[in-house]
Amino acid sequence: MSAAARREDEHPPTTIATVAAMTSPAPAPLASAVLDTLFRHARTQNGWLPRPVSEASLRELYDLWRWGPTAANGQPARVVFVMTPEGKARLRPCLSPGNVDKTMGAPVTAVIGYDVGFHEHLPRLFPHSPSARDGFVGEHNIPRAEASAFRNGTLQGAYLMIAARALGLDCGPMSGFDHAAVDREFFAGTSIRSNFLCNLGYGDPTKLFGRLPRLSFEECCRVV
Ligand SMILES: Cc1cc2nc3c(=O)[nH]c(=O)nc-3n(C[C@H](O)[C@H](O)[C@H](O)COP(=O)(O)O)c2cc1C
Repeated sequence: MSAAARREDEHPPTTIATVAAMTSPAPAPLASAVLDTLFRHARTQNGWLPRPVSEASLRELYDLWRWGPTAANGQPARVVFVMTPEGKARLRPCLSPGNVDKTMGAPVTAVIGYDVGFHEHLPRLFPHSPSARDGFVGEHNIPRAEASAFRNGTLQGAYLMIAARALGLDCGPMSGFDHAAVDREFFAGTSIRSNFLCNLGYGDPTKLFGRLPRLSFEECCRVV
C-alpha cells in the first residue's frame, strides 16, 4: 500500500465515545416492514403524483445522508436540486429522450455530482491527519483524486436514495443524459462533474415497470 493510500485509511485515535459504542449491545435488526420500505418494496419510479417536495424536506434529507461514510471523510458528492420551472428547462435538453417526461414531471431532480477538488476540505474534515490532502494534490495525483471522488460520491448518491426512502420519498435514478451538457449547465467553472440524476417525489404506482429479477447469492457472492 502506498503512503498516500495509507493516509486515506488512517483513523482517528479511539475515544471514550467509540469505546462506549463498541461495548454497548449490538443493535437489533430493523423491523421487516422498514426493510421493505428501504429495499424489498421500494421501486424505481417513472411517474409522479402531483405532490410537491419542500426545500425543508431536502434539508432534512441532507441531514440524514451526509452521515454515510466516505474515505478519509472526504464527502465529495455535490448536489443541485432542480425544482423550479427554470431549472427544469435548463435540464431538459441534456436528457435522453426516454427520461424527459419522467424528469419534467418530478417535483425534484437531484443532479448528483462529485468534486474532484474535494481534498481541499480535508484539513477540516480529517483534521487528525494533516497530510491527508497532500496525497491528492498535483498533476500526478489527478487520477487518484478522480477515482476517490467518483467512488465516494457514488456511495453518497446511494446513501441519498436510501435516506430518501427512509423519509417516505420515492426515487428515480437515471444515467441517461449528456454529462458534458449537464456539467456546462450546472457545474461550469467548478471542479464538480455530474455522476447521475435522481428524480425525487411521490411515485405514481400506475407508471411502474414490472419488477426485474435480482441475481442470487451464489451468482454474486463467494465466501472464502
Ligand atoms: C445509476 C442508475 C442509472 C439509471 N438510469 C436510468 C435511465 O437513464 N433511465 C431509466 O428509465 N431508468 C434508469 N435507471 C433505473 C433502473 O433501470 C432501475 O433502477 C432498475 O431496473 C431497478 O428497478 P426497481 O428499483 O424498480 O427494481 C437507472 C438506475 C440507476 C441506479
